[in-house]
Amino acid sequence: MTIDVLVIGGNGRVGASTVRWLHQLSLRRNASAPLRLAIGGRSRAHFEAVQNRLALPKLVFRSVDLETGFDSLVAVVRGVKLVVHTAGPFQGCTQPDLLRACIAAGVPYCDVCDEFALSRHAKELSSEAAAAGIPAVVSCGIWPGVSALMAIEAAQQLGGPESCERIELSFFTAGTGGAGPTIVSATFLLLATKVLTYLDGSLTLKEPWTERRVVDFGSGVGRHACFLLDNPDVPTTVEALAVANCASRFGTAPGVWNSLFAAMKLLPSDWLFNRSAMQGLALFSMPFIRVVDKLVGATNAIRVDAFRKGDASSGMPAQVTLRCVHADLEDCVGQATAAFALELLRGRSGLSSAEQTIPAGVWYPAELQAKARSNILNVASEKALIWEI
Ligand SMILES: NC(=O)c1ccc[n+]([C@@H]2O[C@H](COP(=O)([O-])OP(=O)(O)OC[C@H]3O[C@@H](n4cnc5c(N)ncnc54)[C@H](OP(=O)(O)O)[C@@H]3O)[C@@H](O)[C@H]2O)c1
Repeated sequence: MTIDVLVIGGNGRVGASTVRWLHQLSLRRNASAPLRLAIGGRSRAHFEAVQNRLALPKLVFRSVDLETGFDSLVAVVRGVKLVVHTAGPFQGCTQPDLLRACIAAGVPYCDVCDEFALSRHAKELSSEAAAAGIPAVVSCGIWPGVSALMAIEAAQQLGGPESCERIELSFFTAGTGGAGPTIVSATFLLLATKVLTYLDGSLTLKEPWTERRVVDFGSGVGRHACFLLDNPDVPTTVEALAVANCASRFGTAPGVWNSLFAAMKLLPSDWLFNRSAMQGLALFSMPFIRVVDKLVGATNAIRVDAFRKGDASSGMPAQVTLRCVHADLEDCVGQATAAFALELLRGRSGLSSAEQTIPAGVWYPAELQAKARSNILNVASEKALIWEI
């Protein structure tokens, strides 16, 4: 059977949510011919469990192990119209093998990578992708992803990037946001990762989980303590806007989780940066984490503040604050990832007659054209509890 979109990692929480949203959104666009979707992963048993949960007609399984080498990855992706990569954790990976395979097979690509070093290596393939006529967007999703689009939007509302002196990104997720062990282990790995920040135009590496700040995420969510944590939105936004100051903070609830992260940060970093140890710890902690998740909910909140350069006489605002809140991280990350994926398909492969908005090449979300940005934000706004953008 012909496959339109192959979601590698679709057996997981983020990937399955992406599959669900891709189905719903494509059904809305063309009720008689929704996208033909496939999940790529190592385990057919995991696939069968997800298939039962999603109850989607005609969902296909493709056996994929990202570790099995370039030729088998090319063979797996060949012939599909888009690959979405959600098989994290991305921390500790340095080579964008799947993107490379997609370029070789002539297949558009997006991922939810939250590791800047990997996204940077992907970006280095941009001229290869452009020569092959392949569009790709890396570091999609809700954050990173929609958050970077919000940063660009905030700078525009200030009067344009040249007017913007500083951008602060802040994130809050209640518990794990209903997400999987990989998000938990990714957070553990980030506690061992120096934080990329920009200070007066210079890249400045800072200690993770420091520089506490209390951030107001809006009505119903309230004020929460947030701490520096690495986020690819920072360097990608700085590159796109040439803004001099930028940093990203994250906080969770209950507050004891914040304290636990602070304590974990004291562990030796080679232990913290051990992918299998952190995945094991996350899996071991999952039953307890799930109980806490039930108590605190799964709210996901993003706030972006953009500050204007000196001149107060211009009539433009001195500060722009944008907020976006969804009830459930797992749901909204799939929604946002599906929004990026559909934008990549726009005007391509006979699936949509609309005009293309993402040219061939490898792009960060912050680099997308205004039309693509507005289309993606429009999809992400659906079901939002707060949408101040
Ligand atoms: N950008 C954003 O907005 C955003 C937000 C939240 C999370 N994330 C990122 O999303 C990623 C996924 O999180 P999650 O909660 O969905 O994780 P998860 O539930 O553990 O799912 C990951 C899936 O990847 C598959 N997988 C793992 N290793 C693989 C390999 N070598 N080859 C093929 N498939 C493999 C696994 O399926 P099988 O066992 O069947 O192979 C697993 O189901 C994380 O890295 C997280 O940081 C991004």
